[in-house]
Amino acid sequence: MVITIDGAAGVGKTTTAKSLASKLGYQYLDTGAMYRAVTYFFRQHSIDINSESQVRKMLDILNLEIDFTSNNSITILLDDKDVSSLIRSKEITNAVSEVSALQPVREKIVKIQKDITENGNFVIEGRDIGTVLYPGAKYKFFLIADYDTRAERRLKDFKRLNEELNVNKIKQDLIDRDQYDSSRKLSPLKQASDAIVIDTSNCTFDDQVNQIYKHIERN
Ligand code: DC
Repeated sequence: MVITIDGAAGVGKTTTAKSLASKLGYQYLDTGAMYRAVTYFFRQHSIDINSESQVRKMLDILNLEIDFTSNNSITILLDDKDVSSLIRSKEITNAVSEVSALQPVREKIVKIQKDITENGNFVIEGRDIGTVLYPGAKYKFFLIADYDTRAERRLKDFKRLNEELNVNKIKQDLIDRDQYDSSRKLSPLKQASDAIVIDTSNCTFDDQVNQIYKHIERN
């Protein structure tokens, strides 16, 4: 069984998906982390992402694995190296939208995601999980929040990584990234018509998880 949680950056998908997965005894999968790992890999090898042949060549040798053994978190491995923190940097955050919009990248990553999740119980968070990966999922959620709330949340994430901070710049980056992710040709960020919308702007963290949990219990 798969539960899908989609939405833009900073709406609370990761914390919600993790907590829901642990409540249900399911595995949690952060699909954005996989696009971040590909972005990190391309940058490490100075790939020109406008060259389809270079992109395809690198995807052929991509060795991306996810270790699910630690409790309530996942470890992203590139060639057996743990890159889970490295992929959260501002540099990768700024570059990932463009990489995730490339068709060969999406084909490869969606296939890996399917292979990983097909036979298990998963809470999967991303942008296209309820629309492309699992359009037939029984439980689909789409999280939204206002820009100020989202920018404050991102600020906290960056603080943990000691990145340079400016809440207005973060807010503008979110607006730009939403625009890019929602208007791209392939698998744009879009609410599935049958997804339940949860506005997390004024919710406590427990509230937002409980809203989803209650919905699943009821149905
Ligand atoms: O959730 P995140 O910020 O870690 O996602 C990073 C990027 O990956 C984001 O710009 C959109 C993209 N993404 C995607 O295209 N499809 C997904 N299922 C998840 C993320």
